[in-house]
Amino acid sequence: MRAEIEKFVGKLRQSFAENSFVKLTLGNYKGEDEHLQKISVRWVETKKGGGLAFQSRFDTRDVVKNFDPDEAIGRISKYLEAGFRSAHLFTIRNDFQLIIGKKNARLTASKPTFANKPYASHDREKKHPVDPNAYYLKALGIANDDGKIRADQRDKWKQINKFVEVLAGLIENSSLKDKTNLRIVDMGSGKGYLTFALYDYLSKSSRPYEGGGSRSDAPESALQITGIELSPDLVALCNDIARACGFDGLNFIEGTIADSELHDANILIALHACDTATDDALYKGITANAEIIVAAPCCHKEIKKQMKPPELLAGILKHPVMLERTAETVTDGLRSMLLESKGYKTKMFEFVATAHTPKNNLLVATKQDNPKNREKINKQIDDIRTEFNIDHQKLADLLN
Ligand SMILES: C[S@@+](CC[C@H](N)C(=O)[O-])C[C@H]1O[C@@H](n2cnc3c(N)ncnc32)[C@H](O)[C@@H]1O
Repeated sequence: MRAEIEKFVGKLRQSFAENSFVKLTLGNYKGEDEHLQKISVRWVETKKGGGLAFQSRFDTRDVVKNFDPDEAIGRISKYLEAGFRSAHLFTIRNDFQLIIGKKNARLTASKPTFANKPYASHDREKKHPVDPNAYYLKALGIANDDGKIRADQRDKWKQINKFVEVLAGLIENSSLKDKTNLRIVDMGSGKGYLTFALYDYLSKSSRPYEGGGSRSDAPESALQITGIELSPDLVALCNDIARACGFDGLNFIEGTIADSELHDANILIALHACDTATDDALYKGITANAEIIVAAPCCHKEIKKQMKPPELLAGILKHPVMLERTAETVTDGLRSMLLESKGYKTKMFEFVATAHTPKNNLLVATKQDNPKNREKINKQIDDIRTEFNIDHQKLADLLN
């Protein structure tokens, strides 16, 4: 049995030496940790060099840690002796499978699943702002190991790219274009797809920084992105993956949007933060004087509960579906007007086609130097609230 394990580890060592390693998986765990299920090992390129990212799947969460090739080999040998009964090594020359039984082990080789090393992404034609081969996309289950987007994640992939494109354009057309140290906060960052993609894109973009040269040469501290998220498991996973990618300026903090402390954020993002969490986020952005605020509101519950349509619209809004849509429109319309009343210029547009996600309105607010008509906007807000019988709107309440 030992001899077969050693042969397998030898194949792994060889794949590192000849640069043919694609990925390794350990499964069928029968060891002492009752929560551990499987481990995937992938190559990850960071600014500091390459390494092996171990993504361990436990019952309810994933943990990611990086090791250099020698440490990785040591760990994998130990894992094979301590409970993993199956190991699969993928290289561009061959796939190798090790099955460990109670008494014997069997190593077999087969044709390679992967024709190319997935991490040779710089050789590929660049079609999207986001690199499909980025490690975080694989760790988060958006891409396969060969850098192909998973069939059930294509909508998410479209969203991620569109989001990065929109943000890059907003920065480029704002005073932040020449800002040396950018601070961005993502409220309700969830699994962090958008946060990672934005960090990856901006850290590689050719924006200037204080020390001269392009942002890709800039010290990590020049770009700081923080995700705020309720779920401790998601925060731990995202921090692990950020470390594995060597994204030193990206971190995730456990907490609520309302209690988060935003010091000097230049950009505030809140995508699909539920119901009035969007209002909490917008309020944080306004009070931090963020230059750009971007929100994709969802779960509009607050206004729908209170809304009594004006007499004139009673015949139209007697249909629950019409009332619901109107409540959404009124909610987001009021949010955008409240932002205008605080000196922002706003735009609202469809972020990606409705076919990809129904919650796809993006509210974009950019700080104006000389905002006008604030009183007029406040009056319009009051009139709308009176017409629709809206006692409470969270953002308005917070601003008051
Ligand atoms: C639908 S997910 C969206 C994630 C990500 N922004 C995206 O668009 O892919 C909403 C996330 O916001 C988090 N969330 C909801 N309310 C929150 C609050 N008040 N404070 C912090 N996080 C919150 C949830 O835990 C969840 O992970």
